[in-house]
Amino acid sequence: MWAGRFAKALDSKADDFNSSIRFDCKMYRQDIKGSIAHAEMLAAQKIISESDRDVIVSGLCDILRDIDNGDLEIDMSCEDIHMFVESELTKRVGDAGKRLHTARSRNDQVAVDVRLYLRDEADEILALLKQLVEDITDKAEQNKAVIVPGYTHLQRAQPITFGHHLMAYAMMLLRDIGRIKDATARMNYSPLGSCALAGTTYNTDRRMEAAKLGFDGIMLNSIDGVSDRDFCIEFMSAFSTIMMHLSRFSEEIILWSSWEFRYVELDDSFTTGSSIMPQKKNSDMAELVRGKTGRVYGDLMTILTLMKGLPLAYNKDMQEDKEALFDSIETVKMCLDIFAPMIRTMKVKPENMYRAAQEGFINATDLADYLTKKGMPFRIAYKTVGQIVAECIEKKCVLDDLPIEAYRAHSELFCNDLYNEISLETCVSKRLSEGGTSVSSVEAQITYVRKELQK
Ligand code: ARG
Repeated sequence: MWAGRFAKALDSKADDFNSSIRFDCKMYRQDIKGSIAHAEMLAAQKIISESDRDVIVSGLCDILRDIDNGDLEIDMSCEDIHMFVESELTKRVGDAGKRLHTARSRNDQVAVDVRLYLRDEADEILALLKQLVEDITDKAEQNKAVIVPGYTHLQRAQPITFGHHLMAYAMMLLRDIGRIKDATARMNYSPLGSCALAGTTYNTDRRMEAAKLGFDGIMLNSIDGVSDRDFCIEFMSAFSTIMMHLSRFSEEIILWSSWEFRYVELDDSFTTGSSIMPQKKNSDMAELVRGKTGRVYGDLMTILTLMKGLPLAYNKDMQEDKEALFDSIETVKMCLDIFAPMIRTMKVKPENMYRAAQEGFINATDLADYLTKKGMPFRIAYKTVGQIVAECIEKKCVLDDLPIEAYRAHSELFCNDLYNEISLETCVSKRLSEGGTSVSSVEAQITYVRKELQK
């Protein structure tokens, strides 16, 4: 390509080292699409002739079709996908192909390709996220009245509904959807026409090619146009947040599936056995999602470190953005794709959840509230109930089984109605505050999430 300036060919090791086609070949579709828009703009601006444009566009369409259906193999000895497409075009259509790169550089070309690629992938990731939120919400609806201990510090804290717990994840993932949409909107400006860095002396129409490619506008500074990888960082940070959420959910599913909890059972089709221990049923999918979170964080670190201190404008370092970006996209897609059916087929065990909720004094707050509502200051009520809990632990019973006389020895305010007040059903059904655990509060959350999913 640059034979004019050089007397010697590139050393073969240096050539391998320098080349990116192994991984950027993924973007052939976007590269060709960008080139078609560029050729059309060049002709509209009379920079190339209409007949050259026609030859170029039909040549590019043929190349796209041939790669798509396997008739054309991408030549891995080319430096990158941009070089391959251009040289293949020239091979097929001759001189017209050599006019395509007028008023363009690979620096703005690659910046466009990555944006187009990410925009397509973002759509797929959004669809996967929506599917998962839908499945979680359906599971929550089926379990909106199932009582389970809620935890803080992984200690049983207060009774909640399992639907309430699941909806917490739906809310997190809904924010993830928002993050992907925000990042897409901010990214959707075209760097094409920035050329190497300084713009061009040709009378190009950047806005025309931006519109053809579905961008909302152009990047207003050509140096920024070729130097910016903020959009990759933003997406990969959103991917990391998705993975963080999935890893928390995975961790809980792994715990809940253990024999100690037995709150849920994953379907056989989403678990594995052990090669030696015949009794085992392992939550491998959830464990792998938890594990793959590390990869996606690593990918984010790669690109942050890559961009740190990089002088303007394009530097070859930036070629290293793609493998990390592609890896994080593939990983997040794989994890979302496995998570949804794993949740859909997960069996919930309400009896075991209820049994666990009966132990652990998780209605102690409600007992304190009972006294407070009868006039005792909350701090005194808190202390009184603490003493009653200690007494129960000593007597090896739960609050629900302690006789009324024993209660009245602590306070005259206790009457027989306390038993109803501290039943698990009452504890849950009275928590009617917005966002709370009662069935109607959870129903409101479900309605909200389903409405958001329509947007
Ligand atoms: N393969 C290169 C990349 O991914 C394309 C841009 C090359 N530009 C250059 N001036 N060498 O970054």
